[in-house]
Amino acid sequence: MSGKCTNPVGAPFRCQPPANRHVLPGGRRNAAPTGERLTPRIVILDLGSKENTLIARDIRALGVYTEIHPHDITAQQLAALPNVKGIILNGGVNRVVDGVEIDASDAVYNSGVPLMAVDHRAKKADCVLAQWPAEEAARKDALKAFVFDACKAEANWNMDNFIADQIELIKKQVGDKKVLLALSGGVDSSVVAALLIRAIGDQLTCVHVNHGLLRKGEPEQVVEVFRNQLGANLIYVDAVDRFLDKLAGVADPERKRKIIGAEFIRVFEEEARKLDGIEFLGQGTIYPDIVESGTKTAKMVKSHHNVGGLPEDLQFELVEPLKMLFKDEVRACGVALGLPDSMVYRQPFPGPGLGVRCTGAITRDRLEALREADAILREEFEIAGLRGKVWQYFTVVPDFRSTGVRDNARCYEWPVIIRAVNTVDAMTATVEQVEWPVLLKITDRILAEVKGVNRVLYDLSPKPVATIEWE
Ligand code: XMP
Repeated sequence: MSGKCTNPVGAPFRCQPPANRHVLPGGRRNAAPTGERLTPRIVILDLGSKENTLIARDIRALGVYTEIHPHDITAQQLAALPNVKGIILNGGVNRVVDGVEIDASDAVYNSGVPLMAVDHRAKKADCVLAQWPAEEAARKDALKAFVFDACKAEANWNMDNFIADQIELIKKQVGDKKVLLALSGGVDSSVVAALLIRAIGDQLTCVHVNHGLLRKGEPEQVVEVFRNQLGANLIYVDAVDRFLDKLAGVADPERKRKIIGAEFIRVFEEEARKLDGIEFLGQGTIYPDIVESGTKTAKMVKSHHNVGGLPEDLQFELVEPLKMLFKDEVRACGVALGLPDSMVYRQPFPGPGLGVRCTGAITRDRLEALREADAILREEFEIAGLRGKVWQYFTVVPDFRSTGVRDNARCYEWPVIIRAVNTVDAMTATVEQVEWPVLLKITDRILAEVKGVNRVLYDLSPKPVATIEWE
């Protein structure tokens, strides 16, 4: 590539994919064969902005596909991205890293596609076609003009095209080989399972690990829906004692997460070793998992648990068809795949499950109280018409007690904390203003029905400063 700037509007993108390899931000390995007609995209380069995802969502709302990549994307990585129509240099408050002001590489400036600079003093200003307007009101129009007029992108990104693309990609990637999928029953893994069943049918084997930290009735429902209704190959593993024994006495949240993640991998690995001829591993990774686990300019918030840490000798290649979707897009994908509403609009549930809601060292009795309280909350939210309206709601049982009075005698029992939040992409969240009568009914039921609980509280904290989960 020459050092000369080539950015005439509509100039052909000169970087062609050299091979069938798709290089992900952060260097994650994922061989995704490039189809002939992969969706055209706008690339957002993270030059220290805190608003990468906002711009990404604005572009996707225009019906145009976009991906966020780190500022130091290499020429080779850039060249491997199919069908790039334009690049946004997204500068911001975190532009200085380790005392040095970061900038895009020459490969970006010389890519030949239209460039737009957001809050960024571009090194090669003459290569930049459009600047981000200072006035907020003008920004959406500027973005629209850049995407459609300068980049000549078409508004053709929708879920039907996404599914068609992914089915083609999955078939090409997997061929006649077999795929293994850890199916938790949450929205992400359920949608991946449905996509994989659609693409490769019984070449897929699903493993459902019951680690004892699932919600009431959940393991039974996974078996019913996937094995009985969708006809998936499903292996059910009862690993409850194994997990709870490992977690006994462990109070530190990050250690708990790591134990749950590591034990999950061990159980899953044992199941994988029993099976013959599996070469691929399906994963319900979604975009916030990638972005929140730390980009080059953002700090890691919490370690997210998935099954990416399997031993080298298992030699799986990843199939992650949802890795570029935001949560609401995953739901839209599930709807388009014809999954039932009860599954698609099921609230998200963290990999470590009730383990991060039974704070401190988990005990079986407190975990049981949590599971029962959570079931009551879900039942009452359903009755009050809040299911599907509130994004995520759950209970927490902390590891301390308070004094109460029951049957004329002093009792010393746990509180249950109710949390109900709304968000678009889980990066920020606000608290749902639940009506008093609903809260009071839930309180009455929890106090009457859940053993070991004498107090019910409502968590009013938004994210930030609080996170959604308590650990
Ligand atoms: P936080 O607590 O980080 O949660 O505000 C944001 C969203 O992510 C979910 N969450 C997790 N999901 N593994 C997951 O798969 C995890 O370790 C994990 N921690 C949090 C959380 O339920 C919320 O929807």
